[in-house]
Amino acid sequence: MAAPQAQDFIKGWPHPDLISTPELREGLLESFKQGLEMTHETLNYGDKENGAYMLGHPKFRQGLAKFLEGQYDAPVDWKTLMSTGGGSMGTDLAFRVHGKAGDIVVCEEPTYFLAFTMARNQNMDLLGVPIEKDGMDLVALEKHLTGPQGSKIKFVYTVPVHHNPTGYTMSNEKRVKLVKLAQQYKFLIVADEAYQLLNFEPSGVKSFFYHDDAADPRVLAVGTFSKLIGPGVKVGWVHAHESLLKPLAGIGYIDSGNNLDESAPLP
Ligand SMILES: Cc1ncc(COP(=O)(O)O)c(C=O)c1O
Repeated sequence: MAAPQAQDFIKGWPHPDLISTPELREGLLESFKQGLEMTHETLNYGDKENGAYMLGHPKFRQGLAKFLEGQYDAPVDWKTLMSTGGGSMGTDLAFRVHGKAGDIVVCEEPTYFLAFTMARNQNMDLLGVPIEKDGMDLVALEKHLTGPQGSKIKFVYTVPVHHNPTGYTMSNEKRVKLVKLAQQYKFLIVADEAYQLLNFEPSGVKSFFYHDDAADPRVLAVGTFSKLIGPGVKVGWVHAHESLLKPLAGIGYIDSGNNLDESAPLP
């Protein structure tokens, strides 16, 4: 990876050198070639065994699971993954499917500006909480949860690793506490992990999925290749237990069959 000075941290755009390497070009060509060798699946809505690929091509999801297992050093069940058009689509789908007009999204203040747009697109309202060096101020969050609007809080949206724009990372302790609060007050956590795998040094924190409780799941962890390969690929994923993941496929434009990435299974 290029030295820190070569990064544009203001806009989050990759340095042009990072997206022009021969290795990247070769990898993309190989991936596309593999997709073309199985057009009976990649150019179709699905196949007999799997039906339509609402959550993404099974081979892509399996390849992604293997990739993430290596990165997270933890098991990843491919059935807990859905492919998306970047992290943005993952967050948008989580809000769209699990929220409704009048619900409230709590987020760190400041936060990634398009999260506002995605919440407002669903006619949801926003409440902010300050961010501290070890992540979201959970005391301030609990004040909202026990306050007059508490029952309307449906989501906490967080950028838990290298938070945009402060750069702070939420500690594992706060993650555990946030999941407990989510169970107690019945809200969902949308963890926008755009920067989870982008470290100069190990961040020391586990992806939010691993703090979730399979018996009462609350977490939708959203990832993306936009910051790993380049935003032009606009391929991402949602990692969540099936009861939260499967409903994401139940809306018109996904239910029409197929999903992103049919033509680009990972090796
Ligand atoms: C926190 C955060 N989430 C999501 C995105 C966008 O990701 P994608 O291009 O995968 O939609 C960005 C891009 O800057 C970001 O900073």
